This record gives sequence, C-alpha cells and structure tokens, in this order.
Amino acid sequence: MVKELYFDNAATTRVYPAVVGVMNEIMLAEYGNASSLHALGDKASKFLINSRANIARALGARTHEIFFTSGTTESNNWVFSGLAHNNSDKKKILISSIEHPSIRETANLFRNWGYTIVEIPVDSRGFVDIDFIEKNIDLSTLFVSVMHVNNIFGTIQNLKKIGDICKRKGVIFHTDCAQSFGKLKILVHDWNIDLLSASAHKISGPKGVGLLYVREGVKFSPFIYGGGQERGLRSGTENVPGIVGFAKAVEISLKEDWNKVSEIRDYIIAELENLGCKLIGARDNRLCNNIFVIFPGIDAEKLLYQLSEKKIYVSTGSACDSKKETEDKSLIALGLSSKEIKSSLRISLPADVTRKEADYFLKVLKELIKR
Ligand SMILES: Cc1ncc(COP(=O)(O)O)c(C=O)c1O
Repeated sequence: MVKELYFDNAATTRVYPAVVGVMNEIMLAEYGNASSLHALGDKASKFLINSRANIARALGARTHEIFFTSGTTESNNWVFSGLAHNNSDKKKILISSIEHPSIRETANLFRNWGYTIVEIPVDSRGFVDIDFIEKNIDLSTLFVSVMHVNNIFGTIQNLKKIGDICKRKGVIFHTDCAQSFGKLKILVHDWNIDLLSASAHKISGPKGVGLLYVREGVKFSPFIYGGGQERGLRSGTENVPGIVGFAKAVEISLKEDWNKVSEIRDYIIAELENLGCKLIGARDNRLCNNIFVIFPGIDAEKLLYQLSEKKIYVSTGSACDSKKETEDKSLIALGLSSKEIKSSLRISLPADVTRKEADYFLKVLKELIKR
C-alpha cells in the first residue's frame, strides 16, 4: 500500500538518512568553529577541506575554486555583483529567457542601474538559440548566463557548446546548475564554464547550503564582508554541518540509478499522453526525473489540491512562483498560452521511485480526471 508520494523533487527533496547522520555527529560532537586554533576548530577545518575537495572533484574543478554559500539564489546574485565591480566598462549581460527568478530579478536590478540585459530566445522545446549568443556577444559584454536544466520543464542545455563560444569570444560564462548538479555529469574545465551555482537541497542534502564555483583567474569581488572566511570573498562562520552534509549528498546522489528513474519517467509520460496530455519541453535531453505536461481543459491547481488530499504532492510550476498569481516567465518564453499554463503540472520523481508507485499515481490521477 502506497502511503504518500512526494513527486515534487524539483522544489526540494527529503534529506538522505546518511546525510542526517554525518550532520548530527558534527553538530553534537564536532561543533568547533573552523577558524578556531584549538583541536576542535582544527577538526572542523579538516571537515571543510575534505568536503570542498570532494565537491570540487565532482565538478572537475580545483578545490580553491569552490566557495560555499547559502544556496543557488545567493550564488546567482553574487555572480552579478562579483563581476560588475571588476569590469566597470562592460555593461551588457546575456541571460536566457527561461532563467530562474534569482537570475532574472537580479538582471532587472542591474537593468535599473544602467546595464543592457539581452534575453536569449528559446525554441518550443526550451533549447536556447546558440547562434543568437554568438551574434550578440561584443566587446561590451560582461557575461553570459544560461541555466543547465530548466526547473519547470527539465530541458538540458548543451553547456559545452555555449562554453566553447564564450571562450572563443573571450566572455565569461555562468551556469545555474541547481537542478542538474549531482544528477548529471558536469565538467567545468572541459566545458569552459567560468562560474557555476548549485544547492544541496535539490539532491537530498540540507537546505540553506550551496556553492559558487569561480574559475581561477576570473576577477571576482567579495559578496559578504567580515572575518575573511571563504578566502576573503564570503565572510561569516562556515556552516560546517551543512557543508559536510552537502558533500555527502553529492557522493550518494551521483551513485543513484538515474537511468532507472528516467525509464519510470518515460513510462508515466507515455501513460499521460495516452490520456491526452501534452508533454512540454524536450523529449530527449530532458532531466531524468522531470515530467511537465498540460492536461487540456483541466484546472491544474484544483487537480494539485485533489492529489494533495490523497497525499500525492506535485507542483504547478516552480515552488518560488507557485503562490503568486503571475505566470512563470520561462513558460511564456516557450510560447505557452495562459490557458495552457493554468492546465500544466510538474511531476518530479525521487531517486528511489518504483514502478508500483508510478502505477498508484496514475490510478489516482485517472480517477480524479474522470471525476
Ligand atoms: C534552476 C534554479 N535556480 C535557482 C534556484 C534557487 O535555489 P535555492 O532556493 O536553493 O537558493 C532553484 C530552486 O528552485 C532552481 O531550480
């Protein structure tokens, strides 16, 4: 008997018990401040060094290129100010038209401060127009930001292709990997990525911890001033339990059987299409656990609440936007109408999803739709 189905893993995830285990131990026994000189501080500092090294390895980065933050929102905000302070003559920024609000809203702020923000268009499956990027980079371009995987419809961008263009044109390339880090292979150096943001809580790590990778050689300003932690760029006592939990989550998540998850994803998509649903986003090059569909003629929000009453949890869009009345800008950029957006549902599967759970989900869904 299936008791509860949490199918909203793009919003956040349940923390791995092993992550809770290591964090618990650190909070109760190894609680020193990593800056303290005594033995407890030294132990905390070693935990930090190991976690940074393990996370750097997972990205193909060097240890000193990883800076811990409170999450992708902070990292994305930092990218703008970190680069702007060092390049006062460059006032043009290219962002994709499907970015998360943490990029979009920061770009709006910079627009008010006199920057030109150029939005890179996408096709109907959500792939960015790579030729547009190439044509629009010029000597005044500060940086290009394109997310790896869209948080609502799961389309995976070809980061290497974009990174290669930016490198050839001598422009800094940033990518938001909140949805992909720990699920997909990412090689920052090989793909010519200069800056990368990610969060722990999307891969069963704790909330409130994230990272910004800054390639060695990129001129970058501090974000938070104070005691000089994180090599003087992001001050404040380090969140050692959170960071160790993050590293543990990355280690476990990278070993998950995501191929199995994508098989179950495809099974659910096929069943939903048989019901008349329309898949939005890419079919190939789609995140392993993402399903985003339109249920024609159905009020998706109503369906979400009906599913919630049955202890099945899904989303109508990104969690940060779903309580607002406005439609998500990335769905408008895809060309969806208001009517379609109101009928759309995001189902994001956990790493341990089973076929039995998928069948139960489909059974409940079919009953509700029939009603
Ligand atoms: C693509 C993307 N970027 C940024 C964020 C913000 O991450 P956080 O809330 O961990 O700061 C999210 C979270 O939903 C996301 O999916």
